[in-house]
Amino acid sequence: MFEEGIYNPDYVKRLFNRMSNSYERMNYITSFGFSIRWRTQFLKPLEESNDEIKVIDLLTGMGETWGAVKRRFPNSTFTALDFSYEMLKYAGHRNQSKFNKEITLIQQDILSNQLPSNHFDIVICAFGLKTFNVEQITVLANETKRILKEGGKFSFIEISKPSNKILKLLYGFYLAQVIPIFGKLLLGNPEEYRMLWRYTDKFENAKIAQRKFDAVGLKTEFISYFFGCATGFYGKKIEG
Ligand SMILES: C[S@@+](CC[C@H](N)C(=O)[O-])C[C@H]1O[C@@H](n2cnc3c(N)ncnc32)[C@H](O)[C@@H]1O
Repeated sequence: MFEEGIYNPDYVKRLFNRMSNSYERMNYITSFGFSIRWRTQFLKPLEESNDEIKVIDLLTGMGETWGAVKRRFPNSTFTALDFSYEMLKYAGHRNQSKFNKEITLIQQDILSNQLPSNHFDIVICAFGLKTFNVEQITVLANETKRILKEGGKFSFIEISKPSNKILKLLYGFYLAQVIPIFGKLLLGNPEEYRMLWRYTDKFENAKIAQRKFDAVGLKTEFISYFFGCATGFYGKKIEG
């Protein structure tokens, strides 16, 4: 697979369609269980609100962030977007069993979506940045800006390579070698889980993405979680 081919949306969609039956358990193991805590932490820069605000979770997967979102914004109108039919199938079950079908699920590619402009108070996205190349991140930044209301806020987080050399080696070994074995044990395909490491290896951390969001005129702050094992940025759509 040529390097750029791994960012082809059809390739990414097929990858997640195939991984859907083992993704949630793997995600937990990949981050040593930290991903659950991180999904709560990355919402902290966004002020809690009981108002009927509009929130969208981009690249929602199976709805892993929904519990944390509903705790922070209990009265929000909540939309969740993903382009993988299989991931959304699991999300649909979760919506029915735990969320009283309150969440509006949308199956669209965020890079060519039909979401309304100036509409959302909050845009969030957990662990979805790594499967985009730099040009696609710029499109994502422009789309985030377009769909946010003026004054609207956003927060993104992604698994990253820590800056500490020893931690980086250990984490790299874990993600590249150990995780594919877990993938196999949990009935996933080790090759698919090796791909997650390939994406993380190229992604490094959220700094480039943050710069691209800045470059389209959004105001951002960088944030590191647990010695850089995850990084992200949050911010606001300012006037103009
Ligand atoms: C690593 S999962 C993250 C899922 C979830 N947000 C979480 O916290 O675990 C990334 C998700 O992004 C979706 N995705 C990737 N590229 C996309 C795109 N261009 N448009 C919509 N969804 C996309 C995939 O289908 C997958 O479900």
